[in-house]
Amino acid sequence: MALRSILVIPEKKLRLVSEPVAGIDASVRALVADMFETMYEAPGIGLAAIQVGEPRRVVTMDLARKDEPRQPQVFINPEITWSSETLNVHEEGCLSIPEYYEEVERPAEVKVRYLDLEGQPLEVHASGLLATCIQHEIDHLNGVLFIDHLSKLKRDRVVKKYSKVARRAAE
Ligand code: NI
Repeated sequence: MALRSILVIPEKKLRLVSEPVAGIDASVRALVADMFETMYEAPGIGLAAIQVGEPRRVVTMDLARKDEPRQPQVFINPEITWSSETLNVHEEGCLSIPEYYEEVERPAEVKVRYLDLEGQPLEVHASGLLATCIQHEIDHLNGVLFIDHLSKLKRDRVVKKYSKVARRAAE
């Protein structure tokens, strides 16, 4: 296992559309192990492979509270097959947009088809935090960030701030 560095906006790779995983081999298992290590270290509750620079449709997640045992979850090639008409507003953050939190409106419930790390096809009916988080992570696989769901004004402000930070770091 290895700790990976997490890409931060305005890194262009975050806008790539990730490729489906064709087969779950040692490289996918190694990627998943690295992603968990990186996600727990950050710490974060969800991570998409593209956030560590790998354009593959792989998501790791752990929604356990601090006082609960870890509940690592892996979603490979996740696909939303149904979304509720009812919407829900939830405050979101992203390891690729550090220290920025904003309320985002999304379908309150979704059904998601995916493969687990054994390659077994599964489907989950997600609500609450899981619904928010899985939609946020699937967005990443499509090159979409949660700030894309905000007003242009808010989004431009955030992008400008992080572009300045990146320029300063490069100087
Ligand atoms: Ni994110």
